[in-house]
Amino acid sequence: MATQRRSGQNISLGAHYAVHLPTPDDFAFWRERARGLIQSDIPPDRVSWIEPGGTGDLFASESPLRGDKRLPAPPADAPAVRTSQRFLTLARSAALHTDPARFGLLYRMLWRLQQNSRLMEDKADLDVRRIEELAKSVRRDAHKMHAFVRFREVEEEDGTPHFIAWFEPDHHIVRAEAAFFMRRFANMRWSILTPRGSIHWDGEVMHEGPPARREDAPGDDPVEDLWRSYYASIFNPARLKVGAMLSEMPKKYWKNLPEAELIPGLIAGAQAREAAMVAAGKREERVRPSTLGDVAQGAAACRDCPIADCGTRAVAGEGPPQATLMIVGEQPGDQEDIHGRPFVGPAGQLLNQHLTRAGIDRKDAYLTNAVKHFKFVYKGKHRLHQSPGAKEIDTCRWWLDAERAIVQPRIVLALGASAARGMLGRTVSVSKARDAPIMLDDGAELWVTVHPSYLLRLDGDARAAQTELFTADLARVQERLTQLAG
Ligand code: URA
Repeated sequence: MATQRRSGQNISLGAHYAVHLPTPDDFAFWRERARGLIQSDIPPDRVSWIEPGGTGDLFASESPLRGDKRLPAPPADAPAVRTSQRFLTLARSAALHTDPARFGLLYRMLWRLQQNSRLMEDKADLDVRRIEELAKSVRRDAHKMHAFVRFREVEEEDGTPHFIAWFEPDHHIVRAEAAFFMRRFANMRWSILTPRGSIHWDGEVMHEGPPARREDAPGDDPVEDLWRSYYASIFNPARLKVGAMLSEMPKKYWKNLPEAELIPGLIAGAQAREAAMVAAGKREERVRPSTLGDVAQGAAACRDCPIADCGTRAVAGEGPPQATLMIVGEQPGDQEDIHGRPFVGPAGQLLNQHLTRAGIDRKDAYLTNAVKHFKFVYKGKHRLHQSPGAKEIDTCRWWLDAERAIVQPRIVLALGASAARGMLGRTVSVSKARDAPIMLDDGAELWVTVHPSYLLRLDGDARAAQTELFTADLARVQERLTQLAG
């Protein structure tokens, strides 16, 4: 048998090696084996890369056994394997493609990079073009998954919500994209079922499961109504480009998207709606909601500011629709976003204690927020509150105004500067504004005090002093409520 000497080791020129990948997306495994093979000087035409379920290579010396067990050990003094950042970035994505030839392509390119470190700069090279195509197609698939996964809510036996989605990826992207969904929905219990495997997040740990069928995922549920109204409200006929829409949202995904059934009708009515919008000189046609249910649905569908894409849901106000007292907070926090109710987290509990102490029954008040969605940043898997900006508060005022017009409270208690801005459309200093109520245009009184989360952030004397002021503010509101009732 012909041999070639390198670094003192005899290497067979004839042997053919089959490397069996444990999973079709195991880039790390490929990389480790590829390095060893390069260091052993095994050229690409003598290696077959076989994924699970793939046919063994009849010419490989180790096939059909797990041939990689008998791969040659690289010589101790083998030179380091050369690669390039660009190659690794593209290879990581391309490895997830369904093209059976992808691992062979990657190995050939790694082999060629040993001779030509500038290979990736050659845009005309067929291998470079192919890896770019594969990586692009995988990135596009991942983008579709981010955009088109739709969770349906089911109740577990213990009563906790579990969100389940069905998705059909083109490539082996499910495991690679799990981290995206984990970050996005860290506090929810969810599963994404696909024909290529399933992932399950229980709020703590990610589990993998076998491939699933469409019937394994639940069908319709109320979450879909939200999506439908969201989609109808963001659909801008003036921007409609049917070709671009179809390329961004291929028909194959439509069957899983509750909003898709609206598309033909929306397209058909687009010209008329566009003309009406131009005539009205407005960006959007909107009718002010006349019920609190409409406010809740509209706010859930609203995407007028970027916060709306942040949390899980819009948190609607709650309480009697004709309450005399309306309490306005800043925005839902982590717990409110999870439960879909205002003031149920730590600040809400402190507020409850103070209301009780002041003799105000929370159940008699209408509680809402200046901003209806939770704005946050991730720190690890925790969602850290971010204050809404003035523009975001002003954008969301439309919903707060609508609530006030429906409830018609006689007293509005604004908790903190964001709530005060939401009510007034301008920034006021809480320490000044708390001195006396401000008369609103409809004759209601606006009372301003600090937000309970401000008290939670203080310690020691500062907290005691501010708690005293807050208690006094609530006592004055209670006194005024008693006067108005008398
Ligand atoms: N803080 C708020 O301002 N609103 C809530 O609903 C909860 C915390």
